[in-house]
Amino acid sequence: MKILQFGRTGQVASAMQAAARGRAEIIALSRADCDLADSERIRAVIKAADCDLVVNTAAFTHVDPAEAAPEAAFAVNAHAPAAMAEACAQRGLPFVHLSTDAVFDGQTDRAYIETDRAEPINVYGRSKLAGEQAVLVHPRAVVVRISWVFSRYGRNYVSFMLKLAREREILKVVADQFGTPTDGEALADFLIATAPRWATAAVDDPGFGLFHFANAGETSRFDFAKAAIDRDPLAKARLEPTTQAAFAEPAPRPPRSPLDTAKLRAVFDFSPEPWRPAVERTADRLVAADLAG
Ligand SMILES: NC(=O)c1ccc[n+]([C@@H]2O[C@H](COP(=O)([O-])OP(=O)(O)OC[C@H]3O[C@@H](n4cnc5c(N)ncnc54)[C@H](OP(=O)(O)O)[C@@H]3O)[C@@H](O)[C@H]2O)c1
Repeated sequence: MKILQFGRTGQVASAMQAAARGRAEIIALSRADCDLADSERIRAVIKAADCDLVVNTAAFTHVDPAEAAPEAAFAVNAHAPAAMAEACAQRGLPFVHLSTDAVFDGQTDRAYIETDRAEPINVYGRSKLAGEQAVLVHPRAVVVRISWVFSRYGRNYVSFMLKLAREREILKVVADQFGTPTDGEALADFLIATAPRWATAAVDDPGFGLFHFANAGETSRFDFAKAAIDRDPLAKARLEPTTQAAFAEPAPRPPRSPLDTAKLRAVFDFSPEPWRPAVERTADRLVAADLAG
C-alpha cells in the first residue's frame, strides 16, 4: 500500500507517518516538494505518482491570520484540494481529505451530523467548506471532518496548554466554547487501517463521501485543558475560566460545534474512545517525554 501524502510536517501528517510504520509506505510531500498555492504543480505530482491512494493533510490552519489573508487561505484550503481531487479522478485514484467543525456556525443544541447545514462564520471555515465541496465532486473521495485535534505531534491544544501551565501562574481558558476533541493518533491509525479499503473499493462503496471523526463526548475548552494539565506534576498555573469575547480574537469561533460520529461507526464499524482517557494518555506521554515545552 503506497500513500501519497500532502503535508509532511503537520500534526496529523506526522501521526500518520508513525502509524504507517510496518503497515504502509507513505510518500510525504513538504511545502518545498509541492507548494499548495501551485495547482499546476499539484496536478503534475499526482499525475506522476506511484501510489494507491492520495491523502491531503496540509492546510492553511491559522484561523486568525486567515481573516486578513482570504486569498491565501482559499488557495490552500479550497483550490489546492480541488486540483488534487480532479487529478485523482482523472487517474481513478481514491482521495482522502481532512476538514473541520469550523464549517458550522456553532448554533446547535446537539452534535452535528454530516447532512446538517454548514454555515461557516470565519474565513478559515469558508475556505475549508469550499474545499470539501470541490473534493466531493470526485466519486471516490473521502472528506473526514475533525475537531480540536491533539496528539504527541506538532503544536496542538494539549501540548500548548501543558507548556503554558508550566510557564504561567494564572492561565485563563475559554469556558464557553464546546466541542469534541479528536485524538490525532487514533485518526491516523484509522486512516492507515482503512486505506486498503479505499484503495480497492468500487465507486458505490459507502466508505466514500463525508464523515465526522472525533472522540466520544462533548466538553468545553476549559475542561479539555484541565484534563491535560491535571496530569502534569510540573504544572504550576491556576486555571481561570474566561469567555471567548474576552479574548477578542480576529476570527469568531463557533461556540458549540461537537461532531456526531454515528455515520462513521455504522460504515466503518469503528467506535471512537471517550475524549478524557485519550487526552490523559496523550498528556502523560508528552510529560514523560518532556515534550510539554
Ligand atoms: N489541528 C486542529 O485542531 C484541526 C481541527 C479541525 C480540522 N483540522 C484539519 O486537519 C488537517 C490537518 O491539520 P494539522 O493540525 O495536522 O495541521 P498543521 O499541523 O497546522 O499542519 C499543516 C500542514 O500544512 C502545510 N502547508 C500549509 N500551507 C502549505 C502550502 N502552501 N504548501 C504546502 N504545504 C502547506 C504545512 O507545511 P509547513 O510546515 O511548511 O507550514 C503543514 O505541514 C487540516 O486539513 C486541518 O484543516 C485540524
